[in-house]
Amino acid sequence: MFTSSTAAIPAARDVPRHVAIIMDGNGRWAKQRLLPRVAGHRKGVEAVRATVRAAIARGIEFLTLFAFSNENWRRPADEVSILMDLFLRALEQEVAKLHENGVRFKVVGDTARFPARIRELIAAGETLTAGNAGLTLTVAANYGGRRDIAQAAQRYFAAHPEAAHGPPLAPEALDPYLAMCYAPEPDLFIRTGGEQRISNFLLWQLAYTELHFTDLLWPDFDAAALDAAIASYRGRERRFGRTSEQVQAAQGA
Ligand code: IPE
Ligand code: IPE
Ligand code: MG
Repeated sequence: MFTSSTAAIPAARDVPRHVAIIMDGNGRWAKQRLLPRVAGHRKGVEAVRATVRAAIARGIEFLTLFAFSNENWRRPADEVSILMDLFLRALEQEVAKLHENGVRFKVVGDTARFPARIRELIAAGETLTAGNAGLTLTVAANYGGRRDIAQAAQRYFAAHPEAAHGPPLAPEALDPYLAMCYAPEPDLFIRTGGEQRISNFLLWQLAYTELHFTDLLWPDFDAAALDAAIASYRGRERRFGRTSEQVQAAQGA
């Protein structure tokens, strides 16, 4: 379990420990080519493969990919069912390869609404890879940051009924109850597709994450694009509320 990673001045790192990505722009990629949206989603799965490989090669410890939001149910039913189908195939085809590469596979989000076969494959994949010490790959599927926080609060008060009448709740008290309690907060957030918004991704955990937005559409994202994002991250000074002088003194010490 990780507690809030913003409390101490963190060591300056060349490679972010945790990268979280909103993979956006599949539909536009397809539209530009006069193809159906599904072609963009298919190509997007290839970009996921390339990104996972690149993350492993760069020694990133946690990679978190937003695949389907709580709000994506609002899409036309046929697109939702195509996305489910692609997720199912990816689980069938990729989990064994992830395991061979030492990846620990996790899914966060409310998967209860997903078809039974998908839920079975997720559970089997998580169990198979639970002991792996390499990259932790988390897929956020039917995930929403607001629901995550609300559920964490609910779980906290279920575990500590006396706290409802106690002193004010410290924010860190919720950390163990969040879906991603096994990971440090993201160091680097990337959103492809040109939109500059969070779209209900990891609201709590992104409090002090460095944000990187690129116009590249997700199917075009690759190792070079990841390197560009990391290069931008390296140029940032993370102060977590302190002054630049304080941070430099701590890093020089
Ligand atoms: C991201 O691409 C994939 C999902 C949200 C599932 P989009 O499908 O949102 O692509 P655009 O934004 O319409 O181009
Ligand atoms: C965010 O993309 C969700 C995922 C990538 C899974 P959207 O395409 O759904 O976001 P909005 O609707 O443009 O904010
Ligand atoms: Mg989109």
